[in-house]
Amino acid sequence: MSWEPKTVFLCVLTAYITSLVVGVEDRQRDDECADLNNTTWREYRQWRAKLQVHYLLLTRRNMDCAQTFTQESLTNQSSHFNISLPTKIIIHGYRALGSKPSWVKELAQSLLRVQDVNVLVVDWVYGASFAYNLVVENYKEVAVQISVLINQLQKRGCKLESCHFIGISLGAHVAGFVGTLFEGKIGRITGLDPAGPMFKRADTFDRLDPSDAQFVDAIHTDSDYFGISIPVGHVDFFLNGGKDQTGCANSRFASMYGYVICDHMRALHIYMSTLNGSCLLKGIPCFSYEDFLKGNCVNCDTFKGTCPTIGLSGCSGITISPVPKEQKLFLLTTSSAPFCAHHILLQLEVSPLHKSAEVEVTLRTENLGTKQRLKLQTATTMYKAVLAHPVALCEIHCIELKNTGAWFYRQGDIHIKSVCLSEFPSIRREEPLCVNNFNVRRRAPWSHDFVQVCGIF
Ligand SMILES: *[C@@H]1O[C@H](CO)[C@@H](O)[C@H](O)[C@H]1NC(C)=O
Ligand SMILES: *[C@@H]1O[C@H](CO)[C@@H](O)[C@H](O)[C@H]1NC(C)=O
Ligand SMILES: *[C@@H]1O[C@H](CO)[C@@H](O)[C@H](O)[C@H]1NC(C)=O
Ligand SMILES: *[C@@H]1O[C@H](CO)[C@@H](O)[C@H](O)[C@H]1NC(C)=O
Ligand SMILES: *[C@@H]1O[C@H](CO)[C@@H](O)[C@H](O)[C@H]1NC(C)=O
Repeated sequence: MSWEPKTVFLCVLTAYITSLVVGVEDRQRDDECADLNNTTWREYRQWRAKLQVHYLLLTRRNMDCAQTFTQESLTNQSSHFNISLPTKIIIHGYRALGSKPSWVKELAQSLLRVQDVNVLVVDWVYGASFAYNLVVENYKEVAVQISVLINQLQKRGCKLESCHFIGISLGAHVAGFVGTLFEGKIGRITGLDPAGPMFKRADTFDRLDPSDAQFVDAIHTDSDYFGISIPVGHVDFFLNGGKDQTGCANSRFASMYGYVICDHMRALHIYMSTLNGSCLLKGIPCFSYEDFLKGNCVNCDTFKGTCPTIGLSGCSGITISPVPKEQKLFLLTTSSAPFCAHHILLQLEVSPLHKSAEVEVTLRTENLGTKQRLKLQTATTMYKAVLAHPVALCEIHCIELKNTGAWFYRQGDIHIKSVCLSEFPSIRREEPLCVNNFNVRRRAPWSHDFVQVCGIF
């Protein structure tokens, strides 16, 4: 397999970043507790991608101290594995530098706080490190080894429906192949930014797809680089369009971490944050992100009004049957935990213009401001756009409009017939918040204060 220069560049960069991240990781180590392996380049070269798969077990009885888990643990009295509880299986992805993933314990603990389950962590750092193309060759073998273990669990009375795989990046496709081996009878697979390189054009047999489990959900955050851009589940949440995440620098010069893996890792951080339960992240079905941003999709009527949510609720909260397949869902987020944004639909109606123009709309809540620019054409008088505001519609104190475009010729006043704000998807249908009939002058910003009280729900 040949290496494109860009891939090599990204790998070197990833390796460099990983070394920085590992450097600051807390190094404390409790010898009593099991941990994931790590490997070094020297070791790797000696053993030539020797595939070793180990398992760690975390339960509510040992949330802070993982136990090593093997098939023997099923008959071992001192193992905390409880056969009558559901099982979550976490599978990490590609490790550029052979380091162990640092977030495993936090994800396991977040899961355990919500549900009384067995959490099994698949440790395949040995097979997942360094050359990405060799790692991709390993992933099916890892899946086969996991399926041997799942077979043992099944023999002891675990039900396949009660197994939920959570795969990160390449780990999502490992989970998908385990699902293929069990002919889709596994309960659930969640893919957190499933890997894109070498998988986008792969056959469904080779990648995660809806036939791999009874329910497959995926979160996409970096589909233009490390993530996959096509839907792979029953429902696929595309966060901020699925490519670039807020707060991750778009400029490659701003921060190396931001450029390389911030977008990709956002899926995991958002998932952990929703488990913490501070707010609900709801996806809105739409054909494309462009349509979504234009305000053409503002409800979940196709789901009988209940929008699918990110997190552990069964079938993402979908009540309709049959569950759809490859349903794209869109939502906007904020740049930091708990990531929930309020979707505000902005509707503007102007009197016909003689020249094209531009207005900048700002929504203000104390020191928070959300801006949106609208390009106005002579042929249209109605405009719609979707904004992500950090707080609810009823907490917006002020709206400002600025007549911005047209630096090189005199732009006259823009007559606004109405500017309206509404929040979606709304629980109850509220009247939009509107201001009617005013002019916006060039160099003279217009603003209007709202006097609102937030109702109690
Ligand atoms: C990896 O970890 C497992 C169990 O945690 C241990 O048995 C094995 O020896 C480790 N491998 C290496 C090379 O350290
Ligand atoms: C794992 O990493 C630590 C420090 O990062 C190092 O001391 C240790 O030798 C590594 N273990 C293996 C098996 O490479
Ligand atoms: C049972 O599990 C404990 C703790 O994990 C371990 O120390 C012990 O060696 C295991 N015994 C057998 C027979 O596997
Ligand atoms: C295993 O889980 C079941 C169901 O929650 C519970 O009733 C039982 O006490 C647990 N067993 C052990 C050994 O904790
Ligand atoms: C989730 O909650 C735990 C404990 O309250 C906290 O340590 C962790 O940082 C939170 N994680 C996220 C992603 O919000």
